[in-house]
Amino acid sequence: MTTAAFDFAPLLPAGLPAPAAKWTGLPTYNFTGGNNDGEELPLDGLIAAANSVLAREGRTLATYGLASGPQGYRPLRAFLVEKLKRDAGITCTPDNILIASGSLQALDLVNGVLLARGDTVIIEQECYQGSINRLARLGVNAVGIPLDRDGMRMDALASALDDLKRRGVRAKYIYTIPTVQNPTGTILSQARRVEMLKLAGAHGVPIFEDDCYADLIWDHKRPPALYAMSGSANVIHIGSFSKSIAPALRVGYIVAPWELLSRMLAIKTDAGSGALEQMVLAEYCAPHFAGHIPELTRGLRKKLDTLMAALDEQFGTAAEFDEPKGGIFLWVKLPDNVDTLKLYQPALKAGVAINPGPEWSVDRDYSKSRMRLCFASPTHEEIRQGIAALAGVCHREFGVPTRISNVERTGGR
Ligand SMILES: Cc1ncc(COP(=O)(O)O)c(C=O)c1O
Repeated sequence: MTTAAFDFAPLLPAGLPAPAAKWTGLPTYNFTGGNNDGEELPLDGLIAAANSVLAREGRTLATYGLASGPQGYRPLRAFLVEKLKRDAGITCTPDNILIASGSLQALDLVNGVLLARGDTVIIEQECYQGSINRLARLGVNAVGIPLDRDGMRMDALASALDDLKRRGVRAKYIYTIPTVQNPTGTILSQARRVEMLKLAGAHGVPIFEDDCYADLIWDHKRPPALYAMSGSANVIHIGSFSKSIAPALRVGYIVAPWELLSRMLAIKTDAGSGALEQMVLAEYCAPHFAGHIPELTRGLRKKLDTLMAALDEQFGTAAEFDEPKGGIFLWVKLPDNVDTLKLYQPALKAGVAINPGPEWSVDRDYSKSRMRLCFASPTHEEIRQGIAALAGVCHREFGVPTRISNVERTGGR
């Protein structure tokens, strides 16, 4: 029996985003997304944690919110209180924390309580695509501030704030990924953090701090979080277990004053984020998180070395990049004539998925010949083969790189 198609199109409200593309499987060489290294996943520890927490407390799953209420599993919030104090200098209590379904939901909740169409926010010029897209969808004007090797430039931030003030506009927040920025991999220096807090305070603009990658620093040295340095409760801090443990778990968190958290809870309509993930994370992380991180970062650092060596070999001087201080991404500049949005499709056809620069920036010209490469999920061999394949496609489409391993390429343009 065949079922006649029902036409839903006339029923869809105006303003829906474009339909999602159907998933067609993972590419052979996947340098996209914020995926993690499967080999570094602490699987045995997670299995043991799942067994022990379910044996002890599994029956609490019969209640929405377990026995912890709508802010999330209390032992996980207690772990975060300790971790945030130790790693980021943040003093907070479990009551200041709301567990969310990934920090993407945290972004939605913060935006949900602060933003309306036509508002203005300040962001880093190169920025997380998920944040840029959300702002565009909400009809919010995002003013991009350029970065250098120390993160967001404070002279440019000061000018932007002054300019907005002259026009009578009060930005709703300054969104920053200060500790291993996405996509540039920079860390905002402590001096700049002081400066940012000063500027934010003077202009009455809160700071929205996204510390998603803060656990993944090669030398494990980081300045305190802006949240920790602020004396005036004008910082909202979000974080995630996606990059430190696993993104498919979908567990993130918000640290903010109760006055704001209570507004976010009121628009968090999912009756609580997935409880099993929270229970397993709390059980695993309390004893093992601090030991897991150095192992994870050691593995990631090796993959970054493989990627940088492969780019040097295959692209030579045609690929420029600053070594990131941690994280899972390399932000790469190709020659000016390369348009990475146009490189994307032919590269994908050859099995290589890249993130074109313009999707990670609010400045199309600046980012046109840049791309973001995630080095966490491909194996070392896939990194080497994928970069070789990408160089071949790039040469065919744009005539660069002209040399490989210092040998002139023949054929093509
Ligand atoms: C800066 C930043 N914030 C938030 C997220 C969302 O992460 P998740 O929802 O997996 O916690 C990402 C994901 O890559 C990110 O790069």
